[in-house]
Amino acid sequence: MKADLGKLTEEFFLRYSNRDVAPVIFYSPGRVNLIGEHTDYNGGYVFPCALDFGTCLVVRKNDGNGHRFISLNFPETETITVANGYSPLEKSWINYPLGVINEFEKSGFHIGGLEMLFYGDIPNGAGLSSSASIEMVTAIAVNELSGAGLETMELVKMSQRAENMFVGMNCGIMDQFAVGFGRKDHAINLNCDTLEYRYAPLNLGTARIVITNTNKRRGLTDSKYNERRAECDKAVEYLNAYRKITNLSDITLSEIEVLDKYIPDPVVRKRAKHVITENARTLAAIDALEKNDIIAFGQLMNQSHDSLCDDYEVTGTELDTLVYEGRKLPGVIGSRMTGAGFGGCTVSLVESAYTDNFINALSEVYKLKTGLEPDFYLPSIGNGAHRIRVQ
Ligand code: GLA
Repeated sequence: MKADLGKLTEEFFLRYSNRDVAPVIFYSPGRVNLIGEHTDYNGGYVFPCALDFGTCLVVRKNDGNGHRFISLNFPETETITVANGYSPLEKSWINYPLGVINEFEKSGFHIGGLEMLFYGDIPNGAGLSSSASIEMVTAIAVNELSGAGLETMELVKMSQRAENMFVGMNCGIMDQFAVGFGRKDHAINLNCDTLEYRYAPLNLGTARIVITNTNKRRGLTDSKYNERRAECDKAVEYLNAYRKITNLSDITLSEIEVLDKYIPDPVVRKRAKHVITENARTLAAIDALEKNDIIAFGQLMNQSHDSLCDDYEVTGTELDTLVYEGRKLPGVIGSRMTGAGFGGCTVSLVESAYTDNFINALSEVYKLKTGLEPDFYLPSIGNGAHRIRVQ
């Protein structure tokens, strides 16, 4: 992140006055998922990495004068009286940090008032986990300032619970995990059932990651997301007549033909097919990367998108235009949507020599076909949430 920490501290003092006590600065990144989409809440595999842009939190304790929330990105500010538990506010960014503070209170870790100033450079609502980033930066800050001393894994789970129960978005664990555990120049090979994980060096040779933002306004993403989750639950119910399973990911690719036999609803069957094939693709992609076979990795990214488009139906005109037009361009090794879908971003692997051409050509055709202006990011892969040492 390219934030000027001196400037941020100055902004903090301007708003909270009292220059006698220095605040502390914490940072948490956004994430991009390379492959393994809509598998996390099905106990499957994902392969995300942390980005080099994210959220900073400048924070210090006060004398119990309430939790004070200010962001340089959003207009709403709030002071909330310290209590043993909190209720969500009407539609506000403050629910992300407040939900996390609520999790600490519920776990018996009490913290007097906090003065907080947030600043982030992740585009909001673009599917790059700006919410998980705010949650995790709050979690590591409260963990340290309250002396709770919890492990990162616990903070990840608390952040996910805050999003599920407090914000009301029934997400899986991938985003909070990637943001919490990210490692520079590595992707995370995570089994979302057991939470076992391994870091995979992201050696892309002469290729680089390009993220393209559809800039489509976020519409029905949350309700459609919850609908997909319900369809997967239905698939598990049907498949229990075949054998006892708890997760859709308990079914492997070698058993795929049982879907036809046991799932009568064609829509539910397609959803299950995506999840089962996506798990296999994710493992194959991780394997390909290990063998430095970037071409195979790119082809698996392409297949992942096709499955998300045809079987899981979470793409839409904007994402499909970026992906299918992008793939026609020279130097493109693979391209797919990333995150929940219905808008948000695509992630593409592009030969470095062709990234300028990719950006210019795709921008033109996308504007022509959708009337929207896309944004492009050429990120580096960064570290997970941490305290920033200020000299
Ligand atoms: C969103 C959710 C994640 C995951 C992805 C789809 O980003 O927050 O938990 O389900 O969608 O893979």
